[in-house]
Amino acid sequence: MAASFSAEGPAFNFAAGPAMLPAEVLARLRDELPGWQGGGMTVWEMPFDCAAFRDIQARAEAALRRLLDIPPHYRVLFMHGGASLQFSLLPLNLGCGGAGADYVESGHWSRKAIAEARRYGPVNIAASAASSGSSRLPRQDEWRCDARAAYCHVTANETADGLEYHWTPDTGAVPLVADMSSNLLSRPLDVTRYGLIYAGAQKNIGPAGLTLVIVREDLLGRPACAATPSVLDYRVQAAHGSRFNTPLTYAIYLAGLVFDWLEAGGGLAAMAAANARKSSRIYAAIDASAGFYRCAAAPADRSRMNVCFALPDASATAAFLALAGERRLFHLKGHGAVGGIRASLYNAMPEAGAAALGEFMTEFAAAYDARR
Ligand SMILES: Cc1ncc(COP(=O)(O)O)c(C=O)c1O
Repeated sequence: MAASFSAEGPAFNFAAGPAMLPAEVLARLRDELPGWQGGGMTVWEMPFDCAAFRDIQARAEAALRRLLDIPPHYRVLFMHGGASLQFSLLPLNLGCGGAGADYVESGHWSRKAIAEARRYGPVNIAASAASSGSSRLPRQDEWRCDARAAYCHVTANETADGLEYHWTPDTGAVPLVADMSSNLLSRPLDVTRYGLIYAGAQKNIGPAGLTLVIVREDLLGRPACAATPSVLDYRVQAAHGSRFNTPLTYAIYLAGLVFDWLEAGGGLAAMAAANARKSSRIYAAIDASAGFYRCAAAPADRSRMNVCFALPDASATAAFLALAGERRLFHLKGHGAVGGIRASLYNAMPEAGAAALGEFMTEFAAAYDARR
């Protein structure tokens, strides 16, 4: 590679998750570590049932409710286990017998959710992106749903494939369930269109392991499968304020700080605008590269959170990653199941990070072409 790149400048972490946290949140954590609000202990050391921790949790939930405008008939659960555990908990809690559940297969993570749900009962694939190689989301008029299904599951943002729903599916009386692990809080959302939303925290919310579940109260009335462990039973956790067993106290505290940061930054409308600018910057570099960078995702379904693209061959990809590292642009390697490059641009990624990557991509493509 003929071009040489400067090693100076700030570092940006494009990891898909665990991912960047806002610099202001990290600074507050550092300041508070020695003793939370002068109480002589960190949040790590606090009993989960003491008034101080209850207050931390209540404040986090209240901020989340304000950000997403969550109505009172929806419950917020702070659970353990990541989004993958929710793949099992949906059938175990919302129903796994009878007609089973509808799933839309749109890429890597929906396939994981489907495989897990099949362990508990019938799964109807309402629509699939497989024939397009997960390059576009099936349109609603292509879906074949079962009106008797316990729920209909979508993956709102396919983190590995770079596909995102920019519309809300209509599933009629069947509750719509969405894995929003990689796009919750990235833009305003009408929660009332969903029966249940879940999200692992490690992208837009906080530390890995913590998992948010936002569930319409009437769905808690469904009898969970008898074998569902109590800690994993939505009704039990809802009845105990997510404190049936020891919750992820520090992760909940950190998530609350992220929610405060989001509110202080203008809320989800401001995040949506910034996220659109950031992803547009990278897609513009792809589109202007005359085919050097290839993005498989159909333009209408392009993810704002995970921009996935390929270079002409493996050696170009390796050179891109190496030189990006020298530029202090880190963790750009695509998901193992997909390959190529993936730039994750969650809320905490500053616009300067997307600008730096876009600039690097343009320079790299030009330098590569000049060499050939
Ligand atoms: C959309 C989506 N769903 C589920 C998961 C699995 O999350 P976890 O590893 O926390 O179980 C991921 C992880 O990246 C994801 O992106």
